[in-house]
Amino acid sequence: MGRMIVPHTTPTPDPDRTARTVRKAVVPAAGLGTRFLPATKATPKEMLPVVDKPAIQYVVEEAAAAGLDDVLMITGRHKRAIEDHFDHAFELEQALAAKGDTVRLDAVRDPARLADIHHIRQGDPLSLGHAVLCARHHVGDQPFAVLLSDDLIDPRETLLSRMVEVRERREGSVVALMEVPPEQIHLYGCAAVEPSGEDGVVRVTGLVEKPSREDAPSRYAVIGRYVLDPSVFDILEHTPPGRGGEIQLTDALQEMAAGGTVHGVVFDGLRYDTGDKADYLRTVVRLACDRADLGPEFTAWLKEFVAGLENAGAERERLAA
Ligand code: G1P
Repeated sequence: MGRMIVPHTTPTPDPDRTARTVRKAVVPAAGLGTRFLPATKATPKEMLPVVDKPAIQYVVEEAAAAGLDDVLMITGRHKRAIEDHFDHAFELEQALAAKGDTVRLDAVRDPARLADIHHIRQGDPLSLGHAVLCARHHVGDQPFAVLLSDDLIDPRETLLSRMVEVRERREGSVVALMEVPPEQIHLYGCAAVEPSGEDGVVRVTGLVEKPSREDAPSRYAVIGRYVLDPSVFDILEHTPPGRGGEIQLTDALQEMAAGGTVHGVVFDGLRYDTGDKADYLRTVVRLACDRADLGPEFTAWLKEFVAGLENAGAERERLAA
């Protein structure tokens, strides 16, 4: 018997496409946004502009950049603006096309072209665990990503792609972890970790939602990026209400961590918390400074403005002396 000859026409499978199992992203966006009232009285907090794009567009762009081409938004009442933003706007598009304004036309069309975007409503804006459970039917039995829209990861970072890649190699679920000062750990889910033998990846041995500084097992905070095994749904179904009387995603992950199937990707890059007023302002300033079209002029103004503040401070001190 001769050697089997493989005809050269056999298509070579693209390892990236065939091996990839994480294709869907879930973006919980049903929260009331009370920290930004009155701006969020009639506008969803996810639609607040960061320079000239709504915060949630950065999140969907991040998912698309990591190869996730199906995005499910978990929304609620008063969130119609999010649906409209990721849809076509025919009148506007026609008006811009008639004027030949291709730059703005692209800006209007881009959100709808980022991914296949779906929306379901959470009903009552209950907890994060409940929001994730709402995605069960859409997600099915494949691993999926969850991106919290208050956390904005700088567009130049590749955190989510790394997390997807870790899931594909190691199975289980993956959380993004960031070291925070001890006085901030009570604002986050906190992970107990062990080395994994791989640079930048840890084994998560336990998780606790918003512990006091004294009870925190580490300084590793869970930031709002997860790649979850679909087994999380069965666990969430029976997860009892935890901190604040809410079904916590962290508690479901704690159960998985006890079984040794949760990994942490340690992130030390640029992350902004757009759910916090001061950090929201910092985000806008930083991203504006980085923009090629706005940055040079805005940075020059900012330097002058800061120098003015410093002079005013020195003047106040002189007068008070
Ligand atoms: C949620 C999670 C928490 C996580 C945080 C990240 O809390 O429950 O575990 O650390 O997001 O931003 P929230 O900020 O919605 O209260």
